[in-house]
Formats: sequence, C-alpha cells, structure tokens
Amino acid sequence: MSTRTIRIGLCGLGTVGQGVWKHLTANRTALEDRLGVRIELAKAAVRDRSRARSVKVPAHCLVDDPMSIARDPSIDIVCELMGGTGIAKKVTLEALSRGKIVVSANKALLCESGAAVFAAARKGGGRFFFEASVAGGIPIIKALREGLVANRFRLIYGILNGTCNYILTRMAAEGAGYPEILADAKRLGFAEADESLDVEGWDTAHKASILAHLAHGVWLKPNQMTVEGITKITQADLRHAATLGYGIKLLAIITRDFARDELAVRVHPTLVPKDRVLANVNGVFNGIAVVGDVVGTTTYIGRGAGQDATASAVISDIADAIVLLTTGRDVTPVESAARAARTVRLAPPERLRSRYYVRTTVKDRPGVLAQIATVMARHGVSIESVIQTTSERPNAASLILTTHESDERAMGATLAALGRLRSLLESPLLLRIADFSD
Ligand code: HSE
Repeated sequence: MSTRTIRIGLCGLGTVGQGVWKHLTANRTALEDRLGVRIELAKAAVRDRSRARSVKVPAHCLVDDPMSIARDPSIDIVCELMGGTGIAKKVTLEALSRGKIVVSANKALLCESGAAVFAAARKGGGRFFFEASVAGGIPIIKALREGLVANRFRLIYGILNGTCNYILTRMAAEGAGYPEILADAKRLGFAEADESLDVEGWDTAHKASILAHLAHGVWLKPNQMTVEGITKITQADLRHAATLGYGIKLLAIITRDFARDELAVRVHPTLVPKDRVLANVNGVFNGIAVVGDVVGTTTYIGRGAGQDATASAVISDIADAIVLLTTGRDVTPVESAARAARTVRLAPPERLRSRYYVRTTVKDRPGVLAQIATVMARHGVSIESVIQTTSERPNAASLILTTHESDERAMGATLAALGRLRSLLESPLLLRIADFSD
C-alpha cells in the first residue's frame, strides 16, 4: 500500500508561518514516521513575495491569494496564520464550507466570530483546530477539551499575554522604560501587529473568551467582560506592590457560579502574592491555573508567544488533523447545535469580590486622608493599609491604599466619589488583589 501524502497550505508566512515552515521541515521525518504519512508543505500565501524571510520557501510554493489555498482541492489542511478578522475570516469560512480542516492561531477571529466559525464547520463538514490561539506553546486547549473533560470549572485564571508579562517583568526587574521594552517585544516577535491589542488587554480578552467557551460552552464578546490593560501601571506601582508582598500580573479570570448559573470573565492587572506560582511566571511565559471539581487545581506554564512556541502548537494541531484524515479519529468533535445555543447569565458586579489597591495623588494638607476615608466608609469599603510617599508635584503626596474585601459595585461608586474630591490631583488607579481560594 502506498503511503498517503498530506498537503498543507499556509495562509500567512509571518513570524508564526515561518516558524511552522522551519520546524515542520526540520522535524518532518520524525512526524511522518509517527503519523504514517508523507507531509508536503505545498503552498504558502504571502503579501510580498520579495520580502526577506528566515526560511527558504521554493518560489513555486508561493501564491499571492490565500483564498486560492482555501479553494484548492489538493490541499488537505489549511493553516490560517495571517491573523485579524478580515480576509482571515473569509478564508477560514471558505475552507470550512468546503469540508477542509483549518488550523488557526487566530484568537481575535474566534472571539469575534467563534459561533459562525463552528456553524460553518458543522454545515460544510470541515473541522477547526485552534491550539495555537491561546497561551502559545502551552497545550491548554487540549488540556481543557481532553485531559480535564471529567471536570466542571468554577475558576480558571492566568497570564495569557506574553508581551504584557514581558513588559511588566522587565519594568519590575530593571526599571527600564516602557517604550524601550515594548520595542524589544516587537523585535522578538511577541507583540501583535497592533500592539494596543496586547497592552490594552484585548488579546488577553480574546483568549479568555476561548477558554470560557471551552469550559462553559458560551461565547462572550469583549463588551461582556471587564477589560483593562497595563498602560497605567507605573514603576512606582510595581515597587509599592513589591513592598506589600505582591507582583503585578495581567490576569484573565473566568469565574462560574454553578448554583446561580452565572459567569464572569475579567481581564485586569492584578496584585498576586509573591509566594504564588503565577507571581513567579515571568518574561514571555504564560501560566494558567485551572480549578476542576474532580481533579482540583492544575497549573500550566510555558512560553506564551513567539515563533517557536506558537509553531509547536500549530504543528500539534496539524498532527491531530492528520490523524483525523487517516484514521477518522476526531479529537475535536463538532459542537452540537444544542451546546452552540447555550446561554448563561453574566454575574452582576456586586458578586465580584476581592481586596483592592488604590493609588492616587492628593494635595498634601490636613484633613485630606480623613476625606478619603469618609468617602470609602460611606460606600462600605474598609481600609486595610495606607502608604504615603512624596510626590514629584509640589505640595502633593502619593497615596497607596489597600482595602479589605469589597466588590466591584462598591469600588466603582467609591472611585467615582473620590474622583469628585477637589483634593485629588489625579484620577485614582484601581487594581485588584488576588486571593484565589483554590
Ligand atoms: N501578542 C501575543 C502575546 C502573541 O504577546 O501573547 C501570542 O498570542
């Protein structure tokens, strides 16, 4: 019997596409041996054929139009590695409607149009694999879908953006300036083409929406989540947090209350106690803690961005796709229409409780601290600690307060009332303090 050849088309040959080409070429024999097929990197769609690349791609493999790959009957697996929600969506839906397997790293597309993508797969007989969309090289999709399938998940939280973690880590360790570190993250291939997706928290929100879908079967849009990025975090915040015994991490937090049938997905910078594992996940690494009702807590750590880590995840999906093509064994069963139609209530803000860190600058004169304490007391918020330091501004002081446990509604109202005090010289910054009872 002759060995079957599986033909792969890459749509996009940027950082991730070149990584897939490089590692699939280098490890092809071992993969072929394991999977019992011949693997052919048949086509790669690029915007600019003449661009310098780190991999040698034969000229006859290059095409200009990614749609031609989606429509090519000789291509078995379409890898969508362009990103974005424009042409990437069209190519994905076209390939799925033709019954093809699509391997994707596109978290923005899934968050925006996950329901449409899976509906197209159901209708056209295609399959959609997306391990590379969340947490780079960490196989968190497979963990949730396969290894932890016995569990229900009341809490999933983690660092899902390598760029933000790299920035916060270097700001804390070196005191290096934000623009310089961000430029390094771009050079190293961690950051999105539009870096505001990283630093404003949207990339983390896209990934959190995918994890929430896997765990709870619903698609939340970013406007159904709280999303805050890292742009307001200063060196001073990182210093103060360290003094209080915390690191600052951009976390996605997915909480499910099964009794009330409520779900909350939040993305925000969070003070994490220094002795917790996630506080020590640094640089481009991501870390995710998954609390399952059967298994307890499992934690996953690995490189969350960059060419090699993401290529590893894409190639793992290609291997699953090959197994499906050659044996019919399907690790991504098509979602039932019933599961696709599921809804859940969003948890109201008073249910989201934590301790808080508040930083502001005030006029340095008698009675100001008392005014702030009065506002907080009026909203039922209890102060746990106060640090006052000198401010660069004349006759001003920086104040850092931490609170006992409160909730998002009370803190929202407190911040609005504080913002109206004439003695405040800047809008207060609010950060949550993590105290996960897992
Ligand atoms: N920009 C993303 C990050 C790439 O920094 O995590 C990986 O999804």
